Amino acid sequence: MTQKKTWSDRFEGSLHPAIVEFNASITFDIQLIEYDLTGSIAHAKMLAKTGIISESEAQQLVNGLETIRQEYRDGNFTPDIDQEDVHFAVERRLTELVGDVGKKLHTARSRNDQVGTDIRLYLRDQIQQIRQQIREFQQVLLTHAQENVETLIPGYTHLQRAQPISLAHHLLAYFQMAQRDWERLGEIYHRTNTSPLGCGALAGTTFPIDRHYSAELLGFGEVYGNSLDGVSDRDFAIEFLNAASLIMVHLSRLSEEMILWASQEFGFISLTDSCATGSSIMPQKKNPDVPELVRGKAGRVFGHLQGLLVLMKGLPLAYNKDLQEDKEAIFDGVKTVTGCLEAMTVLLGEGITFRKERLNEAVSEDFANATDVADYLAARGVPFREAYNLVGKVVKTSLAAGKLLKDLTLEEWVALHPKFEADIYEAIAPKQVVAARNSYGGTGFEQIYQAIERAKKQLELN
Ligand code: ARG
Repeated sequence: MTQKKTWSDRFEGSLHPAIVEFNASITFDIQLIEYDLTGSIAHAKMLAKTGIISESEAQQLVNGLETIRQEYRDGNFTPDIDQEDVHFAVERRLTELVGDVGKKLHTARSRNDQVGTDIRLYLRDQIQQIRQQIREFQQVLLTHAQENVETLIPGYTHLQRAQPISLAHHLLAYFQMAQRDWERLGEIYHRTNTSPLGCGALAGTTFPIDRHYSAELLGFGEVYGNSLDGVSDRDFAIEFLNAASLIMVHLSRLSEEMILWASQEFGFISLTDSCATGSSIMPQKKNPDVPELVRGKAGRVFGHLQGLLVLMKGLPLAYNKDLQEDKEAIFDGVKTVTGCLEAMTVLLGEGITFRKERLNEAVSEDFANATDVADYLAARGVPFREAYNLVGKVVKTSLAAGKLLKDLTLEEWVALHPKFEADIYEAIAPKQVVAARNSYGGTGFEQIYQAIERAKKQLELN
């Protein structure tokens, strides 16, 4: 296969077909095309504003670039692997469309600052979309929380029943994780939204360009102040994948709980048919595939984060072709986190129902109120550690007798400690146990109502 070479006349031969394929990024960086066109339009306008090209030349470039955009949207721009990457593909098509003036577009620019511009424009858009998705996810959590302030669920430590809590409290914990994810992405947005355009290949350019003008046209908030840094920085992508990884950690933890809760052993939720799948062999089964996939996909995103860290750590300044490898990590990270947020929002919104009778049984039939017995005595002057040891004994003898704490008679209580009175029964009833934890941020119902108000305010932030 012979092909037209892309580079200067320094090259006499053409590339080996295997190397053409190996070198090319067009198969995946075509995703950047709209951003590449937008970036080039801003660059062309800047070239005209600074007198580097004429206004009419800039207009021809802009028209040609917009034509390519339309061709692409119509499915009529499908460059092949010989074009190497999206930047070359656009420049070549532009020259076909507008003639020799197309060859002026790359004045005072390099593919290095160009690709850096493209991925930042792409990623800042994605960041905003993901933040919007997080809002929708938070909204479903909040809705469930509002409906379940007084629904009780066992709270666990070590996956052992510890103390009963409000189901809303449990769900609002995920709301707050998501809130931090949303905030974190907002911070990363600002660093991503910085223009490397005009850094050139590495050292700037001899032309009298106006970097601030092109940055402004593109809506960038800042401009890189060091050209070497501008063309070789990928911190923003690593930060993004770190934030994406944390989102996946949070979604994966929630998924794990859904999977447990949907099991026969827990039975706290049932899955509706729209979000559960069957088995090809066991007709009785209904599987929680959605949360299992989310849990599984977390690994991909962590992998991309690790991949980019390793990609960067040994790179001398400035651009190195290794950096072409950043794209698939970023693209797949975006796709995975977007898909998982959407699926989890649907699952929470319409895929689960809480089985309140099961939850009620679960909080009534164990010793999760033992701390409250100790607190009861401690509030009546018994040192907490002494009370704690006494209750340990009570639990032991009750277990042996096949009884729960609520089944002990008042005589039995008083025999255990003279400070027990008839109000012990109320103190250890699950509702009261939860209501009593009224410290700031605790599960007490009054606290939950306040937490819901705070959550609503957080959702209004921009
Ligand atoms: N396709 C390249 C990339 O993704 C574009 C930049 C190429 N720059 C270069 N000096 N070879 O990184």
